[in-house]
Amino acid sequence: MEGSSSLGRADCRAKGGAPRFKVAILGAAGRIGQPLAMLMKMNPLVSVLHLYDVVNAPGVTADVSHMDTGAVVRGFLGQPQLENALTGMDLVIIPAGVPRKPGMARDDLFKMNAGIVKTLAEGIAKCCPRAIVNLVCNPLNSTVPVAVEVFKKAGTFDPKRLLGVTTLDVVRANTFVAEVLGVDPREVSVPVVGGHAGVTILPLLSQVNPPCSFTPEEVNALTDRIQNGRTEVVEAKAGAGSATLSMAYAAAKFADACLRGMRGDAGVVECSFVASQVTKLPFFATKVRLGRTGVEEIFPLGPLSEYERNELEKAKKELAESIQKGVFFIRN
Ligand code: NAD
Ligand code: LMR
Repeated sequence: MEGSSSLGRADCRAKGGAPRFKVAILGAAGRIGQPLAMLMKMNPLVSVLHLYDVVNAPGVTADVSHMDTGAVVRGFLGQPQLENALTGMDLVIIPAGVPRKPGMARDDLFKMNAGIVKTLAEGIAKCCPRAIVNLVCNPLNSTVPVAVEVFKKAGTFDPKRLLGVTTLDVVRANTFVAEVLGVDPREVSVPVVGGHAGVTILPLLSQVNPPCSFTPEEVNALTDRIQNGRTEVVEAKAGAGSATLSMAYAAAKFADACLRGMRGDAGVVECSFVASQVTKLPFFATKVRLGRTGVEEIFPLGPLSEYERNELEKAKKELAESIQKGVFFIRN
């Protein structure tokens, strides 16, 4: 139980009066879900943490709930408990879904995962339509449109509140660029735009902060490594799934940025795959400013190198097909 004998139980949770938020993780017993649950339990902006899965949710909940941090943890198992898991939530993170095995493309997951996202989005539309949603489930370029179509059908769609999590691409880009520059990755910030699959992942190496320059060979090699970082992990895990620990870290980092925006912090900027008018496509990942209601500003692409302009055309072509696939899944 939380608190100590000298403090009232409610006082213990509201101490300092700082805003704190109710967060649900759907797919919390998975290989991303478990470390993500641990990281969110450590986040001081979280007051209540709901852990939902179709398997093993009670075990993960019991385990995480023993951590002596502020968030109150509750577990929910199976479809009949989905509504209770979602009711009253401010932020919902969705790492539910089947992961890739060697030889599979993210798109091979579409049929299984689109159905999972549909069910979970229907629950959100019904029980917490004002929640901000962080979608992790692959193939992200198609599952975000699936969720949007579900929300549109339910009459609850708010483009500011649905965010596809592409932070792992940014995390990888920062790490790989820092390796080449020989600096600490925490000092590097690489915008990654487009989407979250192969050529749709477009790191803007001409816009790295702090400013630096690369040879054409370095640009080629870095772009290729960032686009295929996922395959490094899938192959190294040799059948045991895809990135989970770096992904949980990335999802927790992104969720923390959303919570800081929701609290009213100024200047919270992250890359995310959102409904956008930056290109002619209905969805695109760019830098966005996060605020009390989710995405409060979408930044333009900024000046691109010739290499990036060419890569952007390839990204847009593949993205258009993936987006259409998601829309089609619900409309037909
Ligand atoms: P996993 O199989 O270990 O975990 C998935 C969890 O989802 C399981 O616990 C499963 O029971 C649960 N689940 C299945 N159907 C559900 C439903 N209807 N409701 C609630 N929970 C349900 O997989 P993982 O390695 O944790 O990966 C999860 C997803 O995240 C995959 O789709 C993977 O491709 C994706 N992923 C995305 C990124 C990204 O950058 N966006 C990175 C890595 C992985
Ligand atoms: C990744 O980027 O590692 C994930 O999206 C997992 C995958 O299947 O590629």
